[in-house]
Amino acid sequence: MTPRLTRFAGATLALGLTVAGLAACGDGGSGGGSSSDSGSGSGGAKKIALLLPENKTARYEAFDRPMFEAAVKAACADCEVVYSNAEQDAAKQQQQAEAAITQGVNVLVLDAVDGKSAATIVQNAKSQGVPVIAYDRFVAGSDYYVSFDNQKVGELQGTGLVTAMKAAGKTSGDIVMINGSPTDANAADFKKGAHSVLDSSGYTVKAEYDTPDWSPDKAQAWMEGQVGTVKGNLVGVYAANDGTAGGAIAALKGGGVNPLPPVTGQDAELAAIQRIIAGDQALTIYKAIKPQAEDAAKNAIALANKQKPASSADKEGVPSTLLDPVVVTKDNIKDTVIADGFYKASDVCTAEYAAKCTELGIS
Ligand code: BGC
Repeated sequence: MTPRLTRFAGATLALGLTVAGLAACGDGGSGGGSSSDSGSGSGGAKKIALLLPENKTARYEAFDRPMFEAAVKAACADCEVVYSNAEQDAAKQQQQAEAAITQGVNVLVLDAVDGKSAATIVQNAKSQGVPVIAYDRFVAGSDYYVSFDNQKVGELQGTGLVTAMKAAGKTSGDIVMINGSPTDANAADFKKGAHSVLDSSGYTVKAEYDTPDWSPDKAQAWMEGQVGTVKGNLVGVYAANDGTAGGAIAALKGGGVNPLPPVTGQDAELAAIQRIIAGDQALTIYKAIKPQAEDAAKNAIALANKQKPASSADKEGVPSTLLDPVVVTKDNIKDTVIADGFYKASDVCTAEYAAKCTELGIS
């Protein structure tokens, strides 16, 4: 546990330095490619479109957007970020991409609502000389991809769930799985990773649901329907992210399930960290968004300047960077999201959670 965190903190630091380094040469190297730029005229000023998929999940507006904008500003004071959120609507995202290209952006940073149909966005952009970064969710044909090891996210969720069920004294019984959106390529990876652990774990996957739009409300409604059926034998709930976990937990509580079985999550949302402290959720997965946003910003600026992105992996022929996800349980909140500055202890330990925080040594 400790060595992984040390490595992780080191990676964050290294990425920070890379971006700082870029600031020094921000408007150098505009190379030969001044072709049809309608940008802001002179020097290194570039327009970068950031296209995020939805706003029901807290990360996008609370972390991805501000961290990406800050990283662009730090590396290139004259660059401009053109931001859009598609609110889970793939057609709307397509229009937002077209509008950004019409406005003269030099590069798209795309977190696709629908991984398959977004291939059209990529083709269309590239036919107009605009490179595309697939941000967090993979899109075939893009110029660069930055994300986390998403299958590993699923494996960590599955392993964490088994550990929590055993700790609750259950070595067999029923599990239900609340997966992510069927249009999100990541959701398939999370599901695959989780199945690779759960299918051979000795527990029974009794029912499974692919949550349209990752909607917490739909996850809750589905779980409400399951409570009557699986109630007595339910020993664990796999929820693919914290939004769906919140829906599942509300349904379980509403259905009178007591004690709650362990429930998983992902994103280290503040509400989820507080549910973990309260004992309502077993774990979440922390994906440090800062290094991800900084990496995307650095490579967006490189691509806008007709330079190659820096990558360390390859996915389907697309140069890629895959960051490391980390499991968070009540035992390491302090050493992960607090130590990394994702939250301050005072954000997490509000009056309602103060006593539990003290018990867990979170200060
Ligand atoms: C992201 C998750 C997020 C989910 C819902 C996934 O593609 O990787 O962090 O919770 O989408 O927006």
